Amino acid sequence: MLLHLSDLHFGTERVGCIQAIQQFCQQYRPEAIVVSGDLTQRARFKQFYHCRQFLDSLHIPYLVVPGNHDIPLYHVWNRFFSPFVRYQAFFGGLEPTLETEHFYLVGMNSIRRRYHTRGHISLEQIHETSRRLKNAPANKIKLVVFHQPFYTFPNEHGDKDCPVLAKIALEAWGEEGLFGLLHGHLHKVAVHDLNQIFQLGFDHPILDIHAGTATSNRLRFGLSNSFNVILEDGIIEHYWFDEKDNIFVPSQNVV
Ligand SMILES: [Fe+2]
Repeated sequence: MLLHLSDLHFGTERVGCIQAIQQFCQQYRPEAIVVSGDLTQRARFKQFYHCRQFLDSLHIPYLVVPGNHDIPLYHVWNRFFSPFVRYQAFFGGLEPTLETEHFYLVGMNSIRRRYHTRGHISLEQIHETSRRLKNAPANKIKLVVFHQPFYTFPNEHGDKDCPVLAKIALEAWGEEGLFGLLHGHLHKVAVHDLNQIFQLGFDHPILDIHAGTATSNRLRFGLSNSFNVILEDGIIEHYWFDEKDNIFVPSQNVV
């Protein structure tokens, strides 16, 4: 089991959600945790510190990537000359890889200092990720972690934050057996089949898996806090935070 958290936004975290995730991890022992960006609200030292403390407290291997909130917004010098210095002080590399019993995870950095919210991907990053996916063991579920979604409904958010080279990336990664992508950013859960949406022609789906915010009080669309679980057979489950009992409970509908 893989636990997919996103948009923790430390600085706006809810203690009840933090404790409920700790309890979930103690009970179910996921083999790994992914956090698909926006670890902090304003990229402050203290916020990174508390996020790191929280993830370490779970005692489970984790892979994180940066989100647009993880580079300074107001500190212009740092934003332009060393945007990731705090992030890297706490979490090291910007594009880590993690292999577990059932999963092969490739993290990507989609954040550029010039742009506020849009996700970016370069041809070099596409090739490097292809290379990693190609070298992954064939029996593992291959997932790419990238903060911004590759697709959103036109009437909801449109493609303004989706990476411009999304289709080129998917054509390359689909050849290497990509199962899906793990995202956050919108604070809204969704699963789309990119193979159909982009008419890629592969004989397998490529899932765009969106997570809500797991811990932040920055809730949108009237939705509660939530996270996703990906099982070793590829089934995706969605958990909501139950305010009354302070626990995360599975949705009746499998996403
Ligand atoms: Fe974001």
